[in-house]
Amino acid sequence: MSALPTTLRLDRLLANLGYGARKAVQQMVRDGLVTLDGNVVEDADQRLAITPDLPGRMTVDGEPLDPPPGLTLMLNKPLGVTCSRKEAGPLVFGLFPPRWQVREPALSTIGRLDKETSGLLLLTDDGMLLHRIISPKNHVPKRYHVTLKWPMHGGEAAAFASGTLMLEGEDKPLLPATMETLSPTTATVTITEGRYHQVRRMFAAVRNRVVGLHRESIGRLTLPDDLAPGSYRILGPAELAAILPP
Ligand code: URA
Repeated sequence: MSALPTTLRLDRLLANLGYGARKAVQQMVRDGLVTLDGNVVEDADQRLAITPDLPGRMTVDGEPLDPPPGLTLMLNKPLGVTCSRKEAGPLVFGLFPPRWQVREPALSTIGRLDKETSGLLLLTDDGMLLHRIISPKNHVPKRYHVTLKWPMHGGEAAAFASGTLMLEGEDKPLLPATMETLSPTTATVTITEGRYHQVRRMFAAVRNRVVGLHRESIGRLTLPDDLAPGSYRILGPAELAAILPP
């Protein structure tokens, strides 16, 4: 996994951001369509420092430059969209501007949510960051609001906290997870692993069924109330720092 570049030739940057092939973006520069710090760019070969402030300094065809590499964002994932091409249905990537779908390096989801799970989903083009967040070694806590089909029997929190709960078809017990009961059929559950359909399978293991699942937070980063389903926001340094353990 290579680190993100700190400098790039201007034509390479624009090509990587999906504005067109290298030749096409060189033509855009010759046509005077690219500005930097208020001046029309003349030299498509110039090297640029890749910094988050570039969209405020550079325009392409009158519009601010797309976010440069090093892009991490939070999405309030709506129900019914999938994180993986292996599942049927529209993809989360369709919620972003079309050019973002051809960016290099590509945007990837940081872990996954099921098609029928909503809430906080992070995406990044920074492979190292992705790795650090999903690495089991880092134990990043993920909190879910769970709605159940049947009232709980009372032993769920202890079973989840035990460190001995086995999911069907697996041979390694789950790490301890915490559960807070909100009502007989609602709870918040915090897990530090990311096994396949983990929360749904945890409740299946205690003879219940999840009928609603919403991720509220990852690390100390909580989905803001004002981020509507299907909306997203680019993360700044403070929000990025809130994801990983200090
Ligand atoms: N656990 C699940 O069962 N599904 C998700 O989408 C996330 C956690």
